[in-house]
Amino acid sequence: MKLVVGNQKCYMDNAKLQEFKSGISELESNNFILCPSNVFFHEFKDAKVTLGGQNISICDGGAATGEISCEQLKSIGISYCIVGHSERREMFNESIEDTNIKVKKLLEKEITPILCTGETLEEKNLGKTKDILLDELTGAFDDMDSDSIDKIIVAYEPIWSIGTGLIPSNDDIVEIVTYIKDFVKEKYNSDIKLLYGGSVNLKNIDELNKIDVVDGYLIGGASTKINEITEIINKCK
Ligand code: PGA
Repeated sequence: MKLVVGNQKCYMDNAKLQEFKSGISELESNNFILCPSNVFFHEFKDAKVTLGGQNISICDGGAATGEISCEQLKSIGISYCIVGHSERREMFNESIEDTNIKVKKLLEKEITPILCTGETLEEKNLGKTKDILLDELTGAFDDMDSDSIDKIIVAYEPIWSIGTGLIPSNDDIVEIVTYIKDFVKEKYNSDIKLLYGGSVNLKNIDELNKIDVVDGYLIGGASTKINEITEIINKCK
């Protein structure tokens, strides 16, 4: 079984969400986590689908206009949260120190962080992929023990693959995922779950499912279409 995490980003408006919701019972599966926009969490309160956040604030709450705190997510029963997504880093200047603070806050509240890491096309072409991943993971795990790191799900998302339709070959994914798992085992003595993310869809899921070392997928665009994500989930059971 592979875990499927749907990252709906900022794609949905109310009409699209209602259409998506019409097939929600099909999504009540133990291998799926849906991360909708915060404004739509309440739409799923009667559904049995597991929910996750897409981000939390580095603030603890209180006077922080426009932010969503970790405590707020916890208070409505959210049990997973994406953290350090490349779009947060690129568009909103999230630093690796911020990501580290967020991961710790989530763990404190017993929310499972889904920590994103990945290289840009330029970094890949310069042969720097592994160095970048090590830097990002070391920064995100700073000052944490192996019991904490065991609870984190890591998502390897090459930035050049997100939303582009380009994906690495299975051999390349195996190489990178194995490298990350070995690094985390060696340095932190932790066995992490590792997802692949970047342009996963119904057309490539059968090929990707041939990779044993990957524990699941973080899926953006294809997670906004109820029929497509349902079929993907079923193929991952
Ligand atoms: P994508 O996004 O599936 O649309 O490429 C993945 C992600 O950004 O998590």
